[in-house]
Amino acid sequence: MTVLPIIVAPDPRLKIKAKPVDAVDDDVRQLMDDMLDSMYAAQGIGLAAPQVGDDRRVIVVDVSRENEDPQPMFLANPQIVGVSDDDREHEEGCLSLPEHYAAVVRPDQVRIRYLDRDNEICEIDAEGILATCIQHEIDHLDGILFVDRVSALKRNMILRKLQKAKKLAAQPA
Ligand code: NI
Repeated sequence: MTVLPIIVAPDPRLKIKAKPVDAVDDDVRQLMDDMLDSMYAAQGIGLAAPQVGDDRRVIVVDVSRENEDPQPMFLANPQIVGVSDDDREHEEGCLSLPEHYAAVVRPDQVRIRYLDRDNEICEIDAEGILATCIQHEIDHLDGILFVDRVSALKRNMILRKLQKAKKLAAQPA
C-alpha cells in the first residue's frame, strides 16, 4: 500500500492535459492501486492521476456509502460518449481544494467509455453522484478544476484562501 501526497491548488501540475495510456499494464495497475490507497486515506470519492503528479489519463472512483461494501472503479482513458439533457447540481469538493465547496451543474447522466484494470474496453451509464464524480475526475485530466466551472468571484476567493494557507504553511516556525 502506497499513499501518495495529493497536490493542493493552485499548482501548475493540476493544469496539465494528461496523456492517454497505450494499455493498462502492470505499471498502470500499480498507479491505479496507489491512487486508490491515496484516495481512501484522504477519504475522497474520486482521484485523478495529475493530483498525485502523474500525467497519465487514469482516474479512480468509489462512491459507495459508509455502510456499503467498497465499490472501487479504475478507469484509464475515460471518455464521455453521451450525456443526458437533464442536469444535476451538486455541492462539489476536491482533495486538491481541501475544505472548499461550490455548487456545480453537470449532466445528470453520462455514458463513459474506458479501459478497466484488466485492459478491457468498457462502457457504462452513470447517473447521480457517480456521473458527477466521473465528470469531475475527467475534468482533472484536462487541467480543469471544479472552481473553473463556478463564477470568477467564487473561484478567486477559494484560490486566494488556498494560496494564503500555503504561504502560512511554508513560513518557518
Ligand atoms: Ni477533484
